[in-house]
Amino acid sequence: MTTPTIKIADIAYGRLRAPDLDAMEAFLSEFGMFRSARTERALYMRGTGPSHHIHVTEKGEPGFVSVGYRVRDEDDLRRLAALPGASGIENVDEPGGGRRVRLRDPVNGFLIEALCGIEQPAALPIAPRPLRWSGDVLKTIGDPQRLQFGPSRVKRLSHAVFSTPRVVETVQWFRQTFGLLITDEMYEGDRSNIVLSFNRLDHGSDPVDHHVLNCYHGEVAGMQHLSYEVQDVDDLFVGHNHLKRVGKYEHMRGVGYHVPGGQVYDYWLDPWGQMHEHWLTTRRFTADSAINLMPAPKEHDPQSKFARSVMPQRKPATA
Ligand SMILES: [Fe+2]
Repeated sequence: MTTPTIKIADIAYGRLRAPDLDAMEAFLSEFGMFRSARTERALYMRGTGPSHHIHVTEKGEPGFVSVGYRVRDEDDLRRLAALPGASGIENVDEPGGGRRVRLRDPVNGFLIEALCGIEQPAALPIAPRPLRWSGDVLKTIGDPQRLQFGPSRVKRLSHAVFSTPRVVETVQWFRQTFGLLITDEMYEGDRSNIVLSFNRLDHGSDPVDHHVLNCYHGEVAGMQHLSYEVQDVDDLFVGHNHLKRVGKYEHMRGVGYHVPGGQVYDYWLDPWGQMHEHWLTTRRFTADSAINLMPAPKEHDPQSKFARSVMPQRKPATA
């Protein structure tokens, strides 16, 4: 691979669409996010981390509009703006502000927002899950610590996953444009028949998540899910229990464990069938970590409801 155009700093947000912002806010609140801003046209939700928002919902037909990635500086925006088909550098006319370049992957037409200078509020203070001893500590030695019921508290956006009929060409463009590195690739039959490709950020010797982007082979091109890191394992299980108790939302898969990457997962659908993941990792990787090529696991069934739950792409409000 030749030198990539830039190396992105992180994933920033997913931009979805839904016809009822009240219903989306209710779902995302039960899922564990917090309202950052809301306009007539859109809802902006944040986690406990220091990002203005990590989830945008525009009012409209369900589907996904774009994925935002944070770049390091304006020089990176200029490099991306010079690519064929890219927008110029734009001011973002939304809560949180910032500057961006928009461009499409040439394989599927997925819209990417490269972002810089969005407001960064302070992290939200979060009490640990094991909240308190009941009464006088001396009297309660031996009593169990009690967890409180309630939603998870989402910390940050970890990754986005796409279904595409052309996995290899898609991830090659993402690597070449945004400096991503292969972590794991999985094949079916011949080793060159890659059906799943997990790609991580290149932060040199600083550890990063197993993947910020996963593409898998599917007949339809679209987004499959957005994945959000929660506080810890208590928070993930309490949040799972909470969504079950609420009883309004469809559970897709989990709680389970992805073995190669060491990740705990729990997938839920919003009221329009758009998938959101609660996620934790036990492993981190650096730029030197070896590529892993392996057969696709049996649980990867392209015909399953899980694999076929794909959000179609919607046109941006302003092209
Ligand atoms: Fe995921």
